Amino acid sequence: MAKSKASANPLMDAIVAVCKRRGFIFQSSEIYGGYNGFFDFGPLGVELKKNIKDAWWKDMVHRREDIEGLDSSIIMSPKIWVASGHVGGFSDPMVDCKVSKMRYRADQLFYAPVIVDGEKVGYVSILEDGNMQADAEAAAEKMKRKGGHQGELAPIELKEYTEADESEWALIPSPATGEPGSLTAPREFNLMFETKVGALSDSSAVAYLRPETAQGIFANYKNVVDTGRVKIPFGIAQIGKAFRNEITPKNFIFRSREFEQMEIEYFVSPDGDWSEIHQDWIKYCHDWLISVGLPEEMLGRDVHEKLAHYAKACTDITFQFPFGEQELWGIAARGDFDLTQHAEHSGKPMEIFDETAKKKYIPHVIEPSLGVDRLLLALLTAAYTEDEVGGEKRTVMKFHPRIAPYKVAVLPLLKNKPELVGRARSIFEKLSRRYNVFWDTAGAIGKRYRRQDEAGTPWCVTIDFDTIEKDGTVTLRDRDTTEQKRISEEELYKFLDESLF
Ligand code: GAP
Repeated sequence: MAKSKASANPLMDAIVAVCKRRGFIFQSSEIYGGYNGFFDFGPLGVELKKNIKDAWWKDMVHRREDIEGLDSSIIMSPKIWVASGHVGGFSDPMVDCKVSKMRYRADQLFYAPVIVDGEKVGYVSILEDGNMQADAEAAAEKMKRKGGHQGELAPIELKEYTEADESEWALIPSPATGEPGSLTAPREFNLMFETKVGALSDSSAVAYLRPETAQGIFANYKNVVDTGRVKIPFGIAQIGKAFRNEITPKNFIFRSREFEQMEIEYFVSPDGDWSEIHQDWIKYCHDWLISVGLPEEMLGRDVHEKLAHYAKACTDITFQFPFGEQELWGIAARGDFDLTQHAEHSGKPMEIFDETAKKKYIPHVIEPSLGVDRLLLALLTAAYTEDEVGGEKRTVMKFHPRIAPYKVAVLPLLKNKPELVGRARSIFEKLSRRYNVFWDTAGAIGKRYRRQDEAGTPWCVTIDFDTIEKDGTVTLRDRDTTEQKRISEEELYKFLDESLF
């Protein structure tokens, strides 16, 4: 059941195309044919990403007195990953296709027997995506027709590959070849990237690229407690790269092998109501997403019923990506699992003295963990708009001004008029001390506006002859409404300051 090359997701295709065309995101190593699961951020993408991280840092660290920042190393002692359970258990079950050499996550590979008039005539297999039930039904129908089977097709009931037993493995077709007989049994596959540190190349040199930033926080918790003036409840925040050898990286930057996380470990008293604090965090994170431009109606919640053995609760804030509703931000209540593990494995005490309760304890933790790249994809999805202005179709990225790569573009009406260019340049110099400003003199003004619409620049400022000869006013054009109004330079600075801070 090989998938056809034609994409069933025009919105996703359009987003990927605008990212490439305008320099938001490129495939990594593109000149060598790309490298699956890795991406590069171009001139607009790097600004977008930086703005996301800055907004998060400002709101989570600077504007809150109860949260401190941290930047820990990517490669840490391998003992950390033994203590955290990642060496033993950070794995996904994987299935190999021996013919195509493709590898699949068993929990994303589904199968169903095809039954016609009570007789099993074969199996279909399907990879997890938005239309998998419909695709599986179509494949079963095709199998029935091809085999010349008459009679009633029983409803297709998809099951995870992990639920198949030994007798079925050989009968389930590979999604790569469409033929049975080439898939292996599910095997556990550790997702951590290994590397070697130092001159030796034996097993004592093995180290790992961190699969989450969280453990760097736990490993430094004692340092922060001992050097800071933190009092329970308090949090430690970190932004940084994480690496996972995902078996099936997919959906553009949604699941990649190198990505960035913005994580907080929020330490609370074991005696208090952790569940209330957990709920507060879910609400806080939800509201924050809206504040950076995600529409409330595209957000949802997934309260986990199946929990890891150490977790007390976990709720994901979900987002309606072009390929379906998926996890965006995981907010977990992890009890004292991590600190207790590190206390046991390192032999160092992890208690904190709670001055209010007048006792020592190992705090419990609430962990809001958000992927930068995943949020970036959500923001691209929400921002992507096609509309028509004056009979002309345009693509416009309606980013929240706080997130937009460029805040404003300065455009002299004509490039060969030194008086216009000079005045525009002086406005550009003033503005660019405060914001990221785009300077563009090339082409007709309408074309220049269109370019800024695609880049997501909220405002354009045009300097024309009225600016010079009449009243000193400039034209301020709004990206979303395309409305233009004339305002003075002073009003322009005031307007931008009020809109951007
Ligand atoms: N410390 C907890 C932790 O790492 P997680 O659910 O595995 O939890 C947290 O990851 C967040 O990191 C996810 O909600 C997602 O936003 C992001 N994330 C995880 N794996 C990712 C991947 N392969 N590519 C992009 N983002 C990822």
